[in-house]
Order: sequence, then structure tokens, then C-alpha cells
Amino acid sequence: ILSGAPEEAKAAAGELAAGLIASVVRAKPDAVLGLATGSTPLPVWSALARAGLDWSRVRGFALDEYVGLPAGHPESYRAVITREVVDTLGLTPSLVHVPGDDGGGIATAGARYEAAIAAAGGVDIQVLGIGRTGHIGFNEPGSSFASRTRVKTLTEATRADNARFFDTPGDVPRHCLTQGLGTILDARALVLLAFGEAKADAVAGAVEGPVSASLPGSAIQLHPEVTVILDEAAASKL
Ligand code: GLP
Repeated sequence: ILSGAPEEAKAAAGELAAGLIASVVRAKPDAVLGLATGSTPLPVWSALARAGLDWSRVRGFALDEYVGLPAGHPESYRAVITREVVDTLGLTPSLVHVPGDDGGGIATAGARYEAAIAAAGGVDIQVLGIGRTGHIGFNEPGSSFASRTRVKTLTEATRADNARFFDTPGDVPRHCLTQGLGTILDARALVLLAFGEAKADAVAGAVEGPVSASLPGSAIQLHPEVTVILDEAAASKL
């Protein structure tokens, strides 16, 4: 839990998470990173960009993607990951994957993504934010802890939260492809970050609440290697 003014706490959180990721990349130059979108991980990417690492062989798998946006839409998670992570760090674009970006059909996109993660040897360290509904990736309440990458329907709360990125609320897609909770739990280490009062209930449920599909983030309690990095507001209900 990082104290201080919100922007300072975020920067310090980014440095902490970046330190964990950097040690993985130093030990394994072709490490497999689990990438996340959202505003929360931005300080992690900017701290990592200053770490002086060789990113050329590092591989990446994003957590999730919208279904139904036109190819190249600037708010597609493919575009967001390229802008915020690949370009910021200087990752090799062909080594970074987003669900459904391999040109195949949607019905088998989940199985193909799972196969690609397995072929890469699994995710070494997964960065996670958490949604107000307690979602990780786009695993909304009710998601099975055994779930794998698949198509899901977004809740209205999540669509409203993400409407700020689109011209009108109606433009927010209704469906997504997301790694399952089972996929996320297979990563060798998890780093979950959250900032701000709006996340306090979700954080308390994830960290201290009952392990329950009604709060998908609580799945992290089943993982042996988890680091949770919070500012005081996000930690205020612990
Ligand atoms: C999105 C993403 C999640 C993310 C969450 C929180 O819906 N699919 O992976 O953790 O929202 O976003 P933010 O970090 O911007 O609050």
C-alpha cells in the first residue's frame, strides 16, 4: 500500500511492479509477459521503459479484446496494447498477441489463443487491473474459476465505465474475448494494481472476501505467487 498524493503513489506503484517484471526479464530474455490494458498499468509501462532492458526477445499476451470493433479501431485493445505497451517499451510487434488478432474465426479464437500461450511455455508474470465489478481481464461476475479464453458478454457497469473511450455509450461493444480465470491462474506470478476509491470494494473482495465467482478477482487468492499494489484509497476497505 503506497501512501502519498495520488500521482506519486501511482508512480511508486509503477516502479514496484516494474521491478518485479524487470527481474523476470533479466533472468529470462525471452520472458512471456501477461499484458493488461486500462489506465491502471500505465505507470508500470512508463517505469519499465526507463529500466534499460533489452525487449527484443520478450513475448507478450494481452488479457482481452473487444469483439465487433472495426479492424484498426483506436480503442481496440490491439491498438491500445500497440500504443501503450509495444511502442512504449520497444517490444517486437510480431511477438505480442491479443485474443482474436491472428486472423481466424471468432468461434475458435479462444482455443487458438490458449494453444499459442501453451506453445510459448506459459506466462511468466501477468499484470492485472481490476474492474469496479471485480472483473479481471473481462471475466465478469459469474465467471468460472476453471474458465479459459472465450467470448463473454460485458456487464452494463463495465460498458458504462469504458464509455469514456468511445464517441457515444452505444458504441461500446457488447462482447469481448477474454482469457479465463483458469488461464490467468496458470501464469507463474500475478501482479494486481488498483488505484482510487472506486476500486476499494472490488479490492477488498478480491483480497479478503470469500473466494467466489461473484467477485472474479477473488480468484487471485488461489494463486501462490501474487503481489497486490494499491494506493491508500483503493486499500481503504481492507
Ligand atoms: C477494463 C479491462 C480490465 C481492466 C479494467 C480496469 O475493462 N478489460 O483488464 O483491469 O477495465 O480499467 P482501469 O485500469 O482503466 O480502471
